[in-house]
Amino acid sequence: MVAMNIINLYENFNYYFSAEYKAIFERVSKVASKSKHKLYLIGGGVRDMLLGIKSLDIDITVEGDAIEFARILEREGYAKILNVHKDFGTVKVEIDGEKIDFASTRSEIYPKKGHLPHVKNIGCSLEEDVLRRDFTVNSLALSLNQDNFADLIDYVGGFDDLKDKKIRILHDKSFIDDPTRIIRALKYATRLGFELEENTLMLQKEYLRSVNYDMCNKRVKNEIKKTFDEPSSNAFEKFIDQGIYKLVTLKEVKKPHANIENLFAKYNPKHPWLVYLGLIGVFENDDFCDKLELTKIEKGIILCAKGLLEKEFKDDFELYKAFCNQKIETLLILAVLGKEKQVSHYLDNFSKIKLHVTGDDLVKLGFSPSKAFADGFDYVLREKLQNSQIKKAQELKLIKYYLTNL
Ligand code: CTP
Repeated sequence: MVAMNIINLYENFNYYFSAEYKAIFERVSKVASKSKHKLYLIGGGVRDMLLGIKSLDIDITVEGDAIEFARILEREGYAKILNVHKDFGTVKVEIDGEKIDFASTRSEIYPKKGHLPHVKNIGCSLEEDVLRRDFTVNSLALSLNQDNFADLIDYVGGFDDLKDKKIRILHDKSFIDDPTRIIRALKYATRLGFELEENTLMLQKEYLRSVNYDMCNKRVKNEIKKTFDEPSSNAFEKFIDQGIYKLVTLKEVKKPHANIENLFAKYNPKHPWLVYLGLIGVFENDDFCDKLELTKIEKGIILCAKGLLEKEFKDDFELYKAFCNQKIETLLILAVLGKEKQVSHYLDNFSKIKLHVTGDDLVKLGFSPSKAFADGFDYVLREKLQNSQIKKAQELKLIKYYLTNL
């Protein structure tokens, strides 16, 4: 049994949660008291409540069987069950319009290091459930039980680590079991402004010296996506400085010179994480994308950047032709990797330029469709790149001139 600290956090609870959430927690607490289930808020929700920051999701752990408890809630008319995962003992319910995840306490084992854990025991003690988790600050539980409502249950010293702004793993094999936790640690460190605790940092270094590449890369991708899907480049800098990139490549990665944050602020990519991943991916074989299970579109973004990286552009026309169908993420990968001048020139001056004249217009003018149409469009485009004010009527004039003087 691990020594446990208990303090009551009703004031924090009362201040942090909205009236709607508090009403839900109090209602489920009453039902649990009658049915003799023990409920705890757990994980990110408790961490964020203590930090006073907005939480991404609310998870409730039932010490015992969450599915059985959700059925009671539904029977009594308090909740609607949305979906059930029997193998994990988890259930999503809707209460007063809010979607809430209930999970049965469970212990896990990692029969294959680096891959998804197997559930060992559903309905174990809260303490065992806590001990399967990644970091102390994610292992705090807040009682929703009538006899100790809002008591903080801290088996692993997470409260002190929150105060000290430390990310600490729960046991020395944590990164070996699940190397994606190295990226998760980076995510929390940058999001919360925390540091890795000394032993955690030492074990991370040790793992990165001899990475076991037989790991679930889909999870690596998902963590990279969550970690880098914001404009700040802090996480990427640490990703390089601490050698965390070794989880995805055997090659050495250097910090780019370009100011990524400025580029993101100016051009606002939808998926910053793909730019960051692309900065590594363009120097890899094509199986880099397949290994990480990128979608066709995600893979296309990186491969297009790879194809354009060494290309030189004779003039604006060539630049436009090469860039006009590319996604912003592809262009930003190129910008960061040395083509900033060309990319900015294209984005600032040409990206809005489109031809209005169409093949139908030319047919209406009496021309028969031919390969010359494409050359005609290029002729008009060259003119438009020099004068973006050209309107459709002038475009028609120009293309007519071109086609009749062939
Ligand atoms: N967890 C873990 N190891 C992982 C992923 C998750 O131990 N590789 C545990 C952590 O205890 C975490 C919980 O599962 O708190 C839920 O995971 P997730 O939803 O990814 O994290 P949150 O803590 O909810 O964080 P976030 O604020 O990013 O949603």
